Amino acid sequence: MPRKLIGDWLSPLIYFADNWTSRIGMGIVTTATVLWIFLLPTTLRGEMQNPYIGILSYLVLPGVFFGGLALIPLGIIAKRKLSRRKGRVPTSFGPLNWANTEFRRLVILIGLLTFANIAIGSQFTYGAINYMDSVTFCGKTCHTVMQPEFTAYQDSPHSRVECVKCHIGPGASWFVQSKLSGASQLIAVTLNTYPRPIPAPVHNLRPARDTCETCHWPQKYATDRVKIFPKYAEDETNTASKTVVMIKIGGGNNGIGIHGTHLGVGVKIRYAPSDEQRQTIPWIEYNGPGRQTVYQADGTKGPGNMAVREMDCMDCHNRPAHAYQLPERALDEAMFAGKVSPTLPNAKKEGLELLKATYATREMAAARIPAAFTDFYKQKYPAVYSQNAALVAQSGKEVLAVWERNIFPDMNVTWGKYPVNIGHTDFPGCFRCHDGSHASPDGKTVTQDCGACHTVLAVEEAAPKILTDLGMAPAEDTKPSAPSGKK
Ligand code: HEC
Ligand code: HEC
Ligand code: HEC
Ligand code: HEC
Ligand code: HEC
Repeated sequence: MPRKLIGDWLSPLIYFADNWTSRIGMGIVTTATVLWIFLLPTTLRGEMQNPYIGILSYLVLPGVFFGGLALIPLGIIAKRKLSRRKGRVPTSFGPLNWANTEFRRLVILIGLLTFANIAIGSQFTYGAINYMDSVTFCGKTCHTVMQPEFTAYQDSPHSRVECVKCHIGPGASWFVQSKLSGASQLIAVTLNTYPRPIPAPVHNLRPARDTCETCHWPQKYATDRVKIFPKYAEDETNTASKTVVMIKIGGGNNGIGIHGTHLGVGVKIRYAPSDEQRQTIPWIEYNGPGRQTVYQADGTKGPGNMAVREMDCMDCHNRPAHAYQLPERALDEAMFAGKVSPTLPNAKKEGLELLKATYATREMAAARIPAAFTDFYKQKYPAVYSQNAALVAQSGKEVLAVWERNIFPDMNVTWGKYPVNIGHTDFPGCFRCHDGSHASPDGKTVTQDCGACHTVLAVEEAAPKILTDLGMAPAEDTKPSAPSGKK
């Protein structure tokens, strides 16, 4: 390096840099650099799945870094001005060696800062990364905002799958995208401007190919699955019945069944929904081996200006981790599980009424529902109550539990706010397309044949023979014995 340059530029710089503003700037710059280097391995590995670590390493730390960097010349300029005004600018600056006080101070300062930062940073970043990747962080940090999703998640088949596995997935580019949306979400939460409820579908959700398919793969053949839908009537005896369907799930390689026909090899289905929630679908395009067929609802002429979407897992499994139920079905399931006892007269009717009433807060529901359930038996069925007080109390608590899993007044999440697209009984679901009225130009329709998706084995039967044959439900199980003391 030319000696002249060092003498002319560096020495005065180091002399003038010996001031507090520049020192603080250097402190900030070293801290940001060391922390950033600590985060680097996680960021580069690509398995970086957390938006907030990204926010930290791509937005916050660089911001801090440049802020600190700007302080250094500011301090230098200020000190030079001051020295000039006071006429104390030295005529020559010391050489860059240990004898030079300013140089010595600078080297020691940077050395100390680096050492301190490494010592602190190594402890801090590891813990912070682990914490930010955790379900607790995602589900609880913004408690009110995520409470509905976190609650439903804990009750889902994916309760052991981390939020980031579905919401971000592996790889760098989605990571950056999610980070950017994460940043705007943080701002919305801070300013309290986020929408309630959080709108679904999530538009920047990563395609299922990259998330769901890291654990499930559509080519895998899934055997047909028997599903039982229990139901209790709103009468005094809570008359029980069961619907049994055998669902033809199928698989990709053979292009059969539900999975195979939509996601098999060479199949691509595109559709255009006319509403935000994708509940009305006027236009469907099927691209299969050797043919393309377009199906349209009456009066539709092409997708027009509707957004076209390629169908994937999420179009049917839209609530794999956050499914909310309608009150009837939720209560039926709680009764089937014996949590709300079907032996209590009018339990379904009374439970349903309490579930459907409006409560302003979760606290109010918690105070009201179990108490009202108990009061009902005290007044209407005193004999039943006196002999089954514990059962009534426990059932009342379970009615509340159903409510608490589904309703979140703070986030405006009420019954039916988030449609579930599997099936067609509670929400349009499969019938958004399979309603028999989406037709191709040659008059073919997307099938509504009851036998295409499932074999309906029993509809609301008290004791379906099929279940007895399968050894799944001894007939006597389906008729609850009357509780003692019933009038
Ligand atoms: C098995 C995959 C999966 C997991 C695990 C998962 N989610 Fe989701 N989540 C989804 C899908 C799919 C949607 C989109 C729902 C839709 O489009 O209707 C979603 C939607 C959401 C929404 C938008 C609002 C809504 O209800 O649609 C939030 C908020 C959310 N998830 C938070 C979380 C949190 C917090 C966790 C961890 C506690 C988590 N998710 C775990 C798949 C998942
Ligand atoms: C990290 C792995 C992982 C990811 C990612 C994942 N799942 Fe799963 N999924 C599982 C496991 C494990 C089970 C089995 C749970 C059980 O047996 O109770 C499961 C079960 C399911 C089931 C069956 C539920 C039932 O009622 O038996 C469906 C449907 C499903 N997943 C859909 C999805 C969809 C859709 C996505 C993407 C949004 C997804 N999964 C992402 C691990 C994953
Ligand atoms: C056309 C709608 C549709 C699409 C698309 C779809 N599924 Fe399914 N899937 C179903 C139905 C219906 C069932 C039966 C379960 C039910 O009714 O609850 C099912 C069942 C499953 C199960 C449980 C299988 C078992 O053996 O119990 C898993 C896991 C699953 N799907 C994962 C996926 C994944 C991953 C994708 C995307 C690659 C996907 N599904 C795409 C409709 C669909
Ligand atoms: C976005 C529209 C759309 C939705 C939603 C949809 N499907 Fe389909 N489905 C199609 C199309 C398109 C075809 C293929 C029609 C063809 O062969 O031309 C199809 C075909 C099928 C077939 C094969 C029918 C046959 O004739 O063999 C089954 C079974 C099926 N779907 C089940 C389901 C189930 C179950 C659901 C709900 C979980 C569902 N579909 C939701 C569009 C849809
Ligand atoms: C496009 C596919 C498809 C068609 C067509 C279809 N279903 Fe279904 N159906 C399903 C799926 C998927 C489920 C399972 C829903 C679930 O897992 O929650 C179901 C569930 C049911 C159930 C039990 C649900 C309950 O809540 O009791 C009945 C009953 C039923 N279907 C009757 C019919 C009848 C009758 C027809 C003919 C008009 C029909 N389905 C046509 C896909 C279909």
